[in-house]
Amino acid sequence: MPSHEPAMHDAIAHLPKVELHVHIEGTLEPELMFALAERNGVELPYASVDEVRQAYAFHNLQSFLDIYYAGARVLQTEEDFHDLAAAYLRRCHADRVRHTEIFFDPQTHTARGIPFDTVVRGLTRALADAEHELGITSQLILCFLRDQSAEAAMATLEQALLWRAHIHAVGLDSAEAGHPPEKFRTVFERARAEGFASVAHAGEEGPPEYIRQALDLLSVARIDHGVQAEQDPGLMQRLASERIPLTVCPLSNVRLCVFDRLEDHNLKRLLDADLCVSIHSDDPAYFGGYIGENYRATTDALGLSLDDLERLARNAVEGAFLDPPARQRLEEEIAQWRAAHSPGPHAD
Ligand code: ADE
Ligand code: ZN
Repeated sequence: MPSHEPAMHDAIAHLPKVELHVHIEGTLEPELMFALAERNGVELPYASVDEVRQAYAFHNLQSFLDIYYAGARVLQTEEDFHDLAAAYLRRCHADRVRHTEIFFDPQTHTARGIPFDTVVRGLTRALADAEHELGITSQLILCFLRDQSAEAAMATLEQALLWRAHIHAVGLDSAEAGHPPEKFRTVFERARAEGFASVAHAGEEGPPEYIRQALDLLSVARIDHGVQAEQDPGLMQRLASERIPLTVCPLSNVRLCVFDRLEDHNLKRLLDADLCVSIHSDDPAYFGGYIGENYRATTDALGLSLDDLERLARNAVEGAFLDPPARQRLEEEIAQWRAAHSPGPHAD
């Protein structure tokens, strides 16, 4: 079945999804940015929502991060963080996301004088509401900014200890080049000793060596992006044999010029090499789409089949921080989806 057929998009709409790579600050839509700027008396360097969208022309990760950190200045109160996460979770519901593991960047806010507790209180309230009202389960992942010092990361980890029950894991994000995982070895050791799971962005723009370091020095459970692994055949074999999850974000990779076009993306090659890759959205308000749009656009560009979609969805379940019963429930939902969407006897 050609992948651009409406039937394929219908199948994607119904696919039970697990989101493992989304930055909550990256879900700040221009409309909400303007509303919060007005609520908090923050001046924006844009005259309109259209002007904001026009400014979203990036040529690499840093050119995006400059605009992303500037946008986050409108987030000031517990209510702001709540409203941001509540809006994101409504989008999840529309995309049939069943479980989401959400990154947040406390240093982006504490550096502006916003208390750590304000951020986490607002986020956790929205997450609890979404579980009751929409049936979406979630986890929070605290990301350290890798272009800041290891000491600043350690101080942030200490603030997180009071919120241990609400923060499942730590991660590593922001500008990758020149900031290898090894810089944060001691911080991740401490996080592990305190009972946090861990993940890290690696191999988005940075070299395969950063993926190796994240695995060997930080002991992360999964790699965010990881698409540069393809340059290193030995690493590819290791990722496949150890079933290391790679949380791939196709629209992000194209918008940040990691690949020229979606048709050139290596997701299908990684999948065919038996890596545990899955599809996610990164910063959907900035990159043109949430998880559903990432699935649709990638399916169209790479000609993914129903088999491919099922493997991608199952890989996301495999990579998630879920307990065995929740994992099994999601696997069953995917099996039911597959039974309902298998090509009929007349399909070619
Ligand atoms: N923070 C938000 N989005 C990011 C990305 N794609 N890479 C690194 N840090 C980020
Ligand atoms: Zn990311």
